[in-house]
Amino acid sequence: MEIVLTDRGGPEKLRVADTDSPAPGRGEALVRVLASGVSFAEVQMLSHRYPMQPKYPFVPGYDLVGEVTSLGEDVTGVAVGDRVAALMVTGAWRTHVAVKADRLVPVPDGLDAGVAAAATMNGVTAWQMVHQTAAVRPGQTVLVHGASGGVGTLLVQLTVAAGAKVLGTASQSKHDAVRTLGATPIDYRTEDVAARVRELAPGGVDAVFDHLGGDSLRVSYDLLADGGILVNYGSASTLNDNNHWVVPYLRTIRRFASWWLGKPLGRARGRRASFYYVKPGASFNRALVEVYQLVAEGKLVPPIDQRLPMKEAAEGLRLLMNGKATGKIVLEA
Ligand SMILES: NC(=O)c1ccc[n+]([C@@H]2O[C@H](COP(=O)([O-])OP(=O)(O)OC[C@H]3O[C@@H](n4cnc5c(N)ncnc54)[C@H](OP(=O)(O)O)[C@@H]3O)[C@@H](O)[C@H]2O)c1
Repeated sequence: MEIVLTDRGGPEKLRVADTDSPAPGRGEALVRVLASGVSFAEVQMLSHRYPMQPKYPFVPGYDLVGEVTSLGEDVTGVAVGDRVAALMVTGAWRTHVAVKADRLVPVPDGLDAGVAAAATMNGVTAWQMVHQTAAVRPGQTVLVHGASGGVGTLLVQLTVAAGAKVLGTASQSKHDAVRTLGATPIDYRTEDVAARVRELAPGGVDAVFDHLGGDSLRVSYDLLADGGILVNYGSASTLNDNNHWVVPYLRTIRRFASWWLGKPLGRARGRRASFYYVKPGASFNRALVEVYQLVAEGKLVPPIDQRLPMKEAAEGLRLLMNGKATGKIVLEA
């Protein structure tokens, strides 16, 4: 079985299709999928707004957790029966996936497959941004936009664990959840976010994690304290724009260039702006080992809003698009 995204539109454009299990090629392992995440990337793909997405029809699915059932030629370091995870970008919403063996990361014994899936793409995204891009330190103050989301809930936990004071934007109905994670919630729907952040952090914040892009970037940058960093990792606010998907990214580059130019002109005050993009490779694999270790030790808890059978992927996307989820929606095969 596989889930096919047939065309631009809403979740009704997803189809459940029967398929044969593929044969693993040279250097590949065949993985029987146990769980896969639903993410905002698929929402963007439905609207044809995800950077360089495949042509319709295609099988979405950014990450997977599963069990190796057979091996192609020349595969080392992984065996039949191993539980593994991988970042696919697309193609994970299938019952069986042939995956390059060098993309596979072992899943610790005892770690539930759904929990591991909730921690895969989102966990590495949050971990790399907190510990590598922004290098959050104790005593800092950090603003996390979308603190109730799949990535946001992990960003909050990791920044709190790094010793920072965290402010998190979220819808009012999710404030208790955000508070429980250790952040001070701000209602982006009814409050003046910038004014509230200035009230809570009069000297500015040391880092902002901004998945909204567009006009939010200017506001986020202006909230930085001297030496602070804006980490932009999405363009959620431009989902419904009518222009080509590349336009918001070109605008972001232009904005970033003006801030970079501000440095020699003495306007930057040590403030930086950085774009983060999760990608498969050795660095992802190393980070995922760290993330799974934290999850296995109970130091990072990926909240799962719903576990749905994979054939109900359309419902998973509907819930995410309607803002119904706190944390992650996981599909189980
Ligand atoms: N660059 C990368 O490598 C990378 C990797 C993974 C994800 N991402 C990006 O990360 C973002 C989150 O992805 P996800 O899968 O975690 O999605 P998600 O679970 O749907 O979370 C999105 C969150 O955005 C919040 N939100 C919506 N409008 C907002 C606004 N105006 N101000 C503040 N928050 C707002 C929602 O809050 P409420 O529900 O509380 O209203 C929701 O919690 C997406 O933009 C995605 O593209 C980027």
